[in-house]
Amino acid sequence: GNESLLLAIETSCDETSVAVVRDGKHILSNVISSQIETHRKFGGVVPEIASRKHVETITVMMEEALEQAGVAPSELSAVAVTQGPGLVGALLVGGVAAKTYAMALDIPLIGTHHIAGHIYANALVHDIVYPCVALVVSGGHTELVVLEREGSFRIVGRTRDDAVGEAYDKVARALNFPYPGGPHIDRLAIEAEEVIELPRAWLEPDSYDFSLSGLKSAVLAAINQSRMKDETLNTAALARGFQESVIDVLVGKSMRAIKEFGASQLLLCGGVAANRGLRAALAASCEAAGVPLLVPPFALCTDNGAMIGAAAHLKWKSGEFTSLEMKADPLLSL
Ligand code: KG4
Ligand code: ZN
Repeated sequence: GNESLLLAIETSCDETSVAVVRDGKHILSNVISSQIETHRKFGGVVPEIASRKHVETITVMMEEALEQAGVAPSELSAVAVTQGPGLVGALLVGGVAAKTYAMALDIPLIGTHHIAGHIYANALVHDIVYPCVALVVSGGHTELVVLEREGSFRIVGRTRDDAVGEAYDKVARALNFPYPGGPHIDRLAIEAEEVIELPRAWLEPDSYDFSLSGLKSAVLAAINQSRMKDETLNTAALARGFQESVIDVLVGKSMRAIKEFGASQLLLCGGVAANRGLRAALAASCEAAGVPLLVPPFALCTDNGAMIGAAAHLKWKSGEFTSLEMKADPLLSL
C-alpha cells in the first residue's frame, strides 16, 4: 500500500544515522552521529575506524530513533538500510542491525541505494515532478541522473576520477584547512577579490561525465610552485579559480541535461549542495531556463537515515523487498 512506517538506517560512510519515516514523506525522527571529529586528525575517513565507530553507536541510535519518534518496534512496517555503495565494513554494520530487527520483528527488509537516498531526500520537503534531472554531489559521488518517472534512475554522467567533494577536500588539505575542507574553499572563493583562471574539464562535447583530477593537479602544482619559489600565493584567488571551474562545468552539464531530457525540475543533493557558489549559479541558470531548482535543507543533504527511508518507501509501495541474505555491496549500481 501507500502507507508505511519505516525504520531507516544509513552507515555507508562516516555518519551513523537512523530515522523513522512515515509514507516516505514525514520525518518522525532522524538521529545522526557524525564521526568527523574522529577522522579529522587523519585528514579523511579511515574505513576501519569508521566500521568500529558504527558498531559502537548503532544500537543506541536505533533505540534513540524509535524513542524520539514515539514509535514502538511493533508498529514498524519494514526496516530499510543502505545496501551500497559505500565502505564495505561500514555498510555491513548497518546491514546486520537491519536484518536483526527485520528478523526479530518479522517484517520486511528493504535494501536501498545510497544515491537513490540522496535524490529522494528532496521528496521529504518538495513535490517531485517527472521527468527530472538530479545532480548528486558529495564526498564520494558526482552523478547526473535522469528520472523519467518515480523510482526510475538513469545515470547519464559520472566522475571519471575524483568526486567533487573529494577534490574540494584535497585542495583544502593542500592549503592546510582541516577536514572536511569544502566549506573553507567555498568561503575563500566567495570572499576573493581576484581570480586565478584555471581550465574547465568539459571532456567530449556530448559527454555528461566529469573529471576533477586535472583541475585538482593544477591547483596543487600552483601551491607547490609558490612554495618552491618562496612566493606568497593568493590562496583566495586560487580557491576562486578552482570553485569557478568546478561550478561552470557542473552547471553547464546540468542545464544541457535538463534541455535534452525535457526535465521539469533540477534536484540538487549531496553534501556539496551546501556550496554557496554552486547554489547561486544553479539558481540563476534554472531561473533563466524557467525550471525550478529543488534543494533539501542542509541536514538532509549530508548522509542521513531519513533519505534512505524516503527512497525505501518507493520499494515498499511496489512490494520490492530484500532477502535476509542481502550482501553489503560497495559498488551497488543504481
Ligand atoms: O554527502 P556528504 O556529507 O558525504 C558523502 O556522502 O560524501 O558530503 C561531504 C562532502 C565533503 O567532501 C565536504 O567537503 C563537502 O561535502 N562540502 C562542501 C561544502 N560543504 C560540504 N564542498 C564544497 N562547498 C561546501 N560549502
Ligand atoms: Zn552520501
